[in-house]
Amino acid sequence: MASPGPSADGSAARNPLTLLTLDALRQRTSVKWRMFPPDVLPLWVAEMDVPLAPPVADALRRAVDLGDTGYSYGTAYAEAIGDFAARRWGWRDFRVAHTSVVPDVMMGAVELLRLVTDPGDAVVVCSPVYPPFYAFVTHADRRVVEAPLGPDRRMDPAALDEAFRRARAHGRRPAFLLCNPHNPTGVVHRREELETVAALADRHGVRVVSDEIHAPLVLPGAQFTPYLTVAGAENAFALVSASKAWNLAGLKAALAVAGPQAVADLRRMPEEVSHGPSHLGVIAHTVAFREGGPWLDLLLDGLDANRALLATLLAKHLPSVPYHRPEGTYLAWLDCTELGVDTEQPADDTGVVSDVAGPAKLFLDHARVALSSGHVFGTGGTGFVRLNFATSPAILTEAVIRMGDAVR
Ligand SMILES: Cc1ncc(COP(=O)(O)O)c(C=O)c1O
Repeated sequence: MASPGPSADGSAARNPLTLLTLDALRQRTSVKWRMFPPDVLPLWVAEMDVPLAPPVADALRRAVDLGDTGYSYGTAYAEAIGDFAARRWGWRDFRVAHTSVVPDVMMGAVELLRLVTDPGDAVVVCSPVYPPFYAFVTHADRRVVEAPLGPDRRMDPAALDEAFRRARAHGRRPAFLLCNPHNPTGVVHRREELETVAALADRHGVRVVSDEIHAPLVLPGAQFTPYLTVAGAENAFALVSASKAWNLAGLKAALAVAGPQAVADLRRMPEEVSHGPSHLGVIAHTVAFREGGPWLDLLLDGLDANRALLATLLAKHLPSVPYHRPEGTYLAWLDCTELGVDTEQPADDTGVVSDVAGPAKLFLDHARVALSSGHVFGTGGTGFVRLNFATSPAILTEAVIRMGDAVR
């Protein structure tokens, strides 16, 4: 089994993905572990099977011991992200004064979209993409316009150009909700690609909101480019959070960052938005960015090993499912069309379509492995499943063996 080999400092033993047993994980009460019965291996929602990074756990324990559970104050979170962004991504002109704490990335995205678009305006997304990009935008009375990814799974400038043109035709103030890096494909957009986005957005008068929640999770071989460091992105926004990379989704706090020409817009963010993040969330996310780098590096080594392990497992047990190694995230986007599974999406008697259909339903029913069903990611998703490999090599191996058995 491919797992990080032992090293002189014994770091293999500290791969965070190998520290929890299945029994311990099953005691969790979060959605990943409670949505399905206990015989199901859950490789679906983007939670990781890791203990908390020790500095984060220590900071939370300290806060609880002190009863430090009041309201949040100060700019420590933004400062921690600014330092991390400069060190890891070379983002040197990050300005704490150009930021605002928001409850989480998706609430931040909705609030930023409210600032720069009006009800009925269009929000462009590159499908297939993280499903709440559809739901949350629609619930905020904006219209989703899709710019499908190209066959290479990367953003397609021609599709974006066309989508921006359509968005502009129907709405007065369109926006583009960029997923950087991209969930579910794990593509890490290159600087040139982002420059093309900025040029197109400028030409069509489209404001860009860049969701950078997966940014710390870029794997060896790729380099993350913060959208706001790209020429032409001065009037854009970014959203950053420790939620994915340090597994803190339950501790709400994210940061909205404005480009220099978007600061005045950010200042119009209603006051109540900054009341959403929890103080414990701010503490945890701040410490993650400030002190969680060494733990993150161990995690990235473990994810890199799992990324390689998954290639071996799929080749052996599911050879008809091609594998495109993700460049970032811990998500693998698997094209299951060759399996020939019925991709019909059953609806209940109120017309609501099930979240689990096609190959994901087959794997759930016959392998007892829960994956995210591709159809909920929009155009281009049907026939695919998204597999979360932020788990132990043992669970990953067992899951893919079961999946292989289910289609034999
Ligand atoms: C691209 C993307 N954005 C946002 C989120 C959700 O983040 P939050 O819980 O901070 O809203 C996720 C969660 O998986 C995600 O993948």
